[in-house]
Amino acid sequence: MQVTEIKKDIYWVGAVDWSLRDFHGYSTYKGTTYNAYLVMDEKITLFDTVKKDKRGELLHRISSVIDPARIDYIVVNHVEMDHSGSLPEIIERVKPEKVFCSSMGQKNIHDHFHRKDWPLEVVGTGQEISLGRRTVKFMETRMLHWPDSMFSYLPAEKLLISSDAFGQHWATSERFDDEVDVSELMAHAAKYYSNILWLYSPVVRKLLENVRKSGMEIDMIAPDHGLIWRSRVGDILSAYDGWSQHRAARKALVVFDTMWQSTERMAKAVADGIVREGVSVKVLDLKVNHRSDVIAEALDAKALVFGSSTLNNGMLPRMAALLTYMKGLKPGGKIGAAFGSYGWSGEAVKLINGVMEEMKFEVAEPGIRIKYVPEHAGLKECVEMGGRIGQAVKAAVA
Ligand code: FEO
Repeated sequence: MQVTEIKKDIYWVGAVDWSLRDFHGYSTYKGTTYNAYLVMDEKITLFDTVKKDKRGELLHRISSVIDPARIDYIVVNHVEMDHSGSLPEIIERVKPEKVFCSSMGQKNIHDHFHRKDWPLEVVGTGQEISLGRRTVKFMETRMLHWPDSMFSYLPAEKLLISSDAFGQHWATSERFDDEVDVSELMAHAAKYYSNILWLYSPVVRKLLENVRKSGMEIDMIAPDHGLIWRSRVGDILSAYDGWSQHRAARKALVVFDTMWQSTERMAKAVADGIVREGVSVKVLDLKVNHRSDVIAEALDAKALVFGSSTLNNGMLPRMAALLTYMKGLKPGGKIGAAFGSYGWSGEAVKLINGVMEEMKFEVAEPGIRIKYVPEHAGLKECVEMGGRIGQAVKAAVA
């Protein structure tokens, strides 16, 4: 099992999950990694573990550096099972002198594993521990994205071990940002942010501000998923800054589901109207686009236009699922509109408008409903609505 020395005497010893395709509703179509880091010092320290079924991989990698029994400390930056699932077996094998975690981490470790005999030691923001030649400074990052989350910072190496923040779900044989295609890397980072951290954008903004104020020097960010940032630290920090401030592009999405292609024809007409205004548009059919990919596209789109036929007095189920998921992520600052075909009752547009209002979208249009099948006049109305949305996007995004 190959390990990677990311800094002198600091090793990536995590696991690569090439087969994962679903992460509680997030489509991980390129797998993921569970990163763990081993620091060789007077107190040999393991930062985070891996998903339970990958514990063998973790132990093999550690063993290629040192006998796992020689590990003194374990740091649990985050209790979610993808990083702590193997903790019981690792603690049993290592018998660590101490397991460091945040105060909420202590509670969550108890609630997950029900082991009062583990040598937990609570650390808080600003607290430092010595490993011998180097120190570790902790920073609690509550709700980024769990109450227990924290960062570990190694000042001597200017290394930030950042738990879920700055991660990506992407299984690769490479470990560093400069060894992979940068546009694909940033796309995975954006998908990760939008699906997992978007909801916590105010926390991200505060955290970035605190990091700036602290004068913390960072030349490497080692997240718990995906590639390690060493050449593009500034780029990912700046991307998080923009995403957390809901910075948008001159871009719109037309997202739809359709029964007999009437709503699909409306979607294309709305998109034509948006394009006519010189605004970039993506037309996303929910039958072939996973909701987590729609969310990723929504991150920097200024306008979101949703279309659904009416089915049994409601919207189509894939649209309902998307909007439920999106509402939970609290996307901010969007222009919204709705459309859809119907047969006799036609509630879908009204229901979509209701969800957009809950999400605090700016909804200036009542929406367009067309009975059964659109003809030229109805499609023209859709093009015109698209044009007004395009104009609104241009007015909002310089
Ligand atoms: Fe990667 Fe919140 O666990």
